[in-house]
Amino acid sequence: MSDTTKTATLTVDGKDYELPIHSPTTGPDVIDIRKLYAQADVFTYDPGFTSTASCDSTITFIDGDKGELLHRGYPIDQLAGKSHYLEVCYLLLYGELPTAEELEDFEQRVTTHTMLHEQMKNFFSGFRRDAHPMAIMVGVVGAMSAFYHDSTDISDPWQREVASIRLIAKMPTIAAWAYKYSIGQPMVYPRNDCNYATNFLRMCFSVPAEDYHPDPILSRAMDRIFTLHADHEQNASTSTVRLASSSGANPFACIAAGIACLWGPAHGGANQACLEMLREIGTPNRIPEYIERAKDKNDPFRLMGFGHRVYKNFDPRAKVMKESADEVLELLGVDNNPTLQVAKELERVALEDPYFSEKKLYPNVDFYSGIILDAMGFPTSMFTPIFALSRTVGWISQWKEMIGDPQNKIGRPRQLYLGETARDYIDIENR
Ligand code: SDX
Repeated sequence: MSDTTKTATLTVDGKDYELPIHSPTTGPDVIDIRKLYAQADVFTYDPGFTSTASCDSTITFIDGDKGELLHRGYPIDQLAGKSHYLEVCYLLLYGELPTAEELEDFEQRVTTHTMLHEQMKNFFSGFRRDAHPMAIMVGVVGAMSAFYHDSTDISDPWQREVASIRLIAKMPTIAAWAYKYSIGQPMVYPRNDCNYATNFLRMCFSVPAEDYHPDPILSRAMDRIFTLHADHEQNASTSTVRLASSSGANPFACIAAGIACLWGPAHGGANQACLEMLREIGTPNRIPEYIERAKDKNDPFRLMGFGHRVYKNFDPRAKVMKESADEVLELLGVDNNPTLQVAKELERVALEDPYFSEKKLYPNVDFYSGIILDAMGFPTSMFTPIFALSRTVGWISQWKEMIGDPQNKIGRPRQLYLGETARDYIDIENR
């Protein structure tokens, strides 16, 4: 924690309380209220955590006004353009960009852990074929704690390291196998002679009769999608992983909790919901109807892939994703893709509408990602599993940071209670 010289004064019932202020390396100061309840017998109130810092961290910084995203200080557009996913994984996990030797060793450790225990295949066959792949991922990742007992003791730094590598390495296999199971095709084993993104594409689209060799541009686009989703500060699913980890639960159970939270359409499920929305709109001439619905307070419809709790400017990831969409669709010869045309026109119309500009609602990471994944051949049900695969390194990095923090204690919020005060039980004959 940074040293504290500034303080805030809070007056409650005429009594002043001095609260320490901590200053970050960049971003807003924070008021330390940890002793407030003991001193003033009051709680603070912040449903949805719109003004609450839940922890301190050195991993990722977001400036919502500038539309800036830094991973260990490096801007996301530079990482997306010059780095690659496993190097970004190293950066998030260990804090610095690796030397060539460090990167080779890390990639080798990940590559040699991509296989799943053969018996874990039984978990997939226990699901209905039409099960959503996110349901399968929650189940299979949670079940990893029943197979990898030698990396569940979180007090052992070595076991924490092994669990981290296993999760990063095995998520593509789990996601690909969930997909293969859902379409009734045989599961494809990972290979050690492919890079991370190519391996995933191969496991998804190879069949026994014909191996799939993705165009390097597609592998690069897939890798860039992984990088753009790698980490994002204290979002809902990362906060879920931190809260689950604070009880001492094993890393596989905590990541399974993060996957479950990410599934929601307000969070990682928005990429699937966005493409389904774009398809429902269908043609640019129907956009005004949907813009009006999004603005109508009495209509629960929202523009999926638009808006963000933190970004009040363009999501920098959406900009990179939009460029990648143009590149991939041109390569695949679908650059006149009607869904992309609707997306671009919807973005243009929305950003010219005062409702969106005044509320600072811009496209987020989910607005264009689905168009790329759809063009690659993924069904919409695989969009959020790919987000979960990518975000695993962020969850793990934040988990390791928290577990390694001596201040770490179980997360236990309080409440504003509005229910009944104590009253006596009434026998049923007297009700
Ligand atoms: C992700 O946190 C992260 O970092 C998440 C993420 C990550 O990498 O981990 O970035 C990934 O989850 C991106 C967001 C994906 N979700 C969507 O695209 C779903 C659509 N977006 C919204 O549901 C919404 O914008 C949220 C959930 C993303 C943010 O909601 P907030 O911050 O709670 O904002 P809000 O709901 O209070 O909205 C503020 C105002 C409201 O109007 P008023 O009540 O003030 O009149 O803006 C309106 C909202 O009605 N609004 C929208 C809108 N989003 C907000 N109106 C129409 N369409 C939208 N998409």
